[in-house]
Amino acid sequence: RKKVTIGTLRSLHKRGEPITMITAHDFPSAHVADAAGMDMILVGDSLAMVALGMEDTSEVILEEMLLHCRSVARATKAAFTVGDLPMGSYEIAPAQALETAIRFIKEGRVQSIKLEGGKEMAPTIERITTAGIPVLGHVGLTPQRQNALGGFRVQGKTSLGATKVLEDALAVQEAGCFAVVLEAVPAEVAAVVTQKLDIPTIGIGAGNGCSGQVLVQVDMTGNFPPGRFLPKFVKKYGDVWTESLRAIETYRDEVKSRQYPAPEHTYPIQREELESFVK
Ligand code: KIV
Ligand code: NA
Repeated sequence: RKKVTIGTLRSLHKRGEPITMITAHDFPSAHVADAAGMDMILVGDSLAMVALGMEDTSEVILEEMLLHCRSVARATKAAFTVGDLPMGSYEIAPAQALETAIRFIKEGRVQSIKLEGGKEMAPTIERITTAGIPVLGHVGLTPQRQNALGGFRVQGKTSLGATKVLEDALAVQEAGCFAVVLEAVPAEVAAVVTQKLDIPTIGIGAGNGCSGQVLVQVDMTGNFPPGRFLPKFVKKYGDVWTESLRAIETYRDEVKSRQYPAPEHTYPIQREELESFVK
């Protein structure tokens, strides 16, 4: 498979072919996403919850994101990689954001970065993109601002709210983003925003009118124990947790019953060597 570049993404968008994106947080999850033919792999700050067991994304720090980006980059041969700037690493000033973005490229080894926010982030996005680092925008529901938003709420449900989503998307496009994530907005609103933009929209909980889709891999592969809450927009395509559980339980049973390891799992020794050894 050929390496996906900014140019590849542009031509997919131009011919109306949906762009596929999924998160990965380490070497194996990136490996499988790349093998499955994903156009883009995002090292999201959802890493905080899905890989590190944290309460929310505000807890994950820059160095942790960089470590995981590096492991994802090592496994990704074709997909275009994106690293998610964690809360606190870019909001203070455009210069801080640029410094962080450069660390993602140099140390995280990803090809682009994502940051949350609309109009107010335009100068920051401009600063990063003019330094030659592609930026993926993220508007609508921006989880790093959950405390200000009053939780994980659908955005753009009113005419005023929808106008804000559109204006934010236009502002990040104007500032130089190569694409923008639309999270948790009504499908009709996302479709209108997509029509009004020149850059691709990547939807999550934003319906089928976007230029592409993104999901959190751990959610869509079912790699979590039963009973965990899943947002409405997640489709569970697999049951990795149950498969892992079955495998590990079988291993446990076979060790307890001495079925494992069997002769084919052991190393041979020559008879004379053994006789000399046990003598
Ligand atoms: O952190 C993340 O995984 C994300 C995607 C859900 C867009 O930001
Ligand atoms: Na994120």
